[in-house]
Order: sequence, then C-alpha cells, then structure tokens
Amino acid sequence: MKVFHTINELRNELKNERKSGKSIGFVPTMGYLHEGHVSLLKEARENNEIVVLSIFVNPTQFGPNEDFDQYPRDFERDEKIALNAGVDCLFYPTVEEMYPNELKSTMKVTKRVDVLCGEKRPGHFDGVALVLTKLFNIVQPDQAYFGLKDAQQVAVIEGLVEDYNIPVKINPVPTVREEDGLAKSSRNIYLTEKERKEAPVLYKSLQKAAEDIQNGNHNAEQLKQNIINTIENETSGTVDYVSIYSYPDLEPINRTNGKIIIALAVKFSNSRLIDNMIISI
Ligand code: PAJ
Repeated sequence: MKVFHTINELRNELKNERKSGKSIGFVPTMGYLHEGHVSLLKEARENNEIVVLSIFVNPTQFGPNEDFDQYPRDFERDEKIALNAGVDCLFYPTVEEMYPNELKSTMKVTKRVDVLCGEKRPGHFDGVALVLTKLFNIVQPDQAYFGLKDAQQVAVIEGLVEDYNIPVKINPVPTVREEDGLAKSSRNIYLTEKERKEAPVLYKSLQKAAEDIQNGNHNAEQLKQNIINTIENETSGTVDYVSIYSYPDLEPINRTNGKIIIALAVKFSNSRLIDNMIISI
C-alpha cells in the first residue's frame, strides 16, 4: 500500500495504472475507520484492480457549530485497517492541499436536501458535493462506493453524478451494524455507557415501523409518532427528526408502490446518530 499526501503524486501513480488498463475503485471517507468502511473497501477490492481510499475530514461539510474539531482522528490505526483491507493507494491530504485558495466558484445542491439531515444541517451537502467533485476529478475512478447508512448522501451523489455527467459508477452498500443492531459509526465512541445501551432502540423502532408497513399500515403520521414515542420512552436521546419519504427523490409519498425511506436522527449528550431503512412498498 502506498500513502499519498499530495494530489500530484496520487495523480501520477493512477495515470500509470490507468494506462495499463487497470480499473480503479474508490472509497472516500473521513477516517476513524470501522467495519462499515471496511465493507465498502471489500466491495471495491472484489470488483476493481486498484483500490483507492481517501481519508479527509472535510471542513466544508461541517457547520460552524458542528464537530469538525472534535471529529475523531487516528491515522496510524486507519493505516493498518486500510492495509488489511487490501487498499493499494491511501490518499491522506491536508486541508491546505485540498483547499489552497479561496474558492472562486461553489456547489449548491438544490434537490433532495430540504429534508432530513439536509434540512437540519444547512450547507452540509453543498460541502459533500464540493469535496466529492474534487475527489472524483483527482482520482477519476471507474467505480465509487458509498454506505446506505447515509442514504441521503447516496441520493445527493447520484444526482450530482447524473447532472454533471461524471463518469463514475456509484455503488450503494448496505449498512453494517453492531450485533445489537446499532449502525456502526465513527461517532459511536462519543456515546456514554448508558446511551450506548439505549442506542439499539433506534434500529428496533425502524424495524417495527417497516414491519407495520409490510402489514398494511401506510399511515405515515402514525408510523412516525410510534417511532418518536419508542425513542422518547426508551432512550435519553432527543429526537431531531423522524421522517418517511420516497427514495431516492425524498418527496412525500403519494404512490402505493416504489421505494420508501424511514429515516431518523437522535441527539445524545455528545453525538448525533442517524439511521434509516429503505423498503419497497
Ligand atoms: P464517513 O462518515 O467517513 O463515511 C465514509 C463512507 O462510509 C460513507 O459512504 C458512509 O455512508 C459509509 N459508512 C459509514 N458507516 C457505515 C456503516 N455502518 N455501514 C456501511 N457504510 C457506512 O460520509 C462521509 O464520510 C463523507 O461525507 C464523505 C463521503 C467522505 C465526503 O467527505
């Protein structure tokens, strides 16, 4: 595995690989790797000749009062995980390398962002679209891998790639969970012991709603309220949102068939957790 700190060095390496006809799979992350990230790397490893992993805590996707400074970082640990996962090129740039000058143009995501995390974190997906446009241009991968734990992010990226004709195939990967159902997340380490015990309730409440839907309950308001009640009664977290929309358009459901997403965000004392379930009705 080779580690690259600069765009030029990574580009030179990948230019040679591309010239010899090798396919490139790309997994962008913000590091503090866990099994969720590793499952994306596994998919990339199985389907490409060269696997590129980026680790970059991207400042432009964090709001002024969000956890950019507190976001967990441990490069040495990540490097070992990357090596074990069969990564060929690890791109680990500084903020100065990625954003050397004040930007002269910007990205504005206009669809699929006025609900869920997009509504709660204004500008977040503009920053995600910006950094991914840069990373796609730097790496020029054939395929890229994203987790459905961040299903709204997948919907936004699919829109970006379609609108701007970016020649990369986007592969969504199912959410990896702890044994008790909690979705793996770099932010889970900030849960207190008590909160960690309560946190599986988030997924259980989603499962219950999915079950109710499959049993014919299509009353979105009632389904949402049931989830809110369960989380409020069984955890010390505060519900940020519980929503049900069509997927990937994230619009109110007005059809009786198609894909829907049940999504939630819950604030605990030191971290905000998200989870979702996508089902076909
Ligand atoms: P990060 O939160 O590090 O996540 C990197 C990738 O790992 C994302 O595609 C995310 O959906 C996926 N992932 C996280 N937890 C997962 C889990 N439990 N199961 C499956 N996949 C999981 O998402 C970002 O970084 C950033 O926004 C990024 C795309 C890198 C742009 O800065």
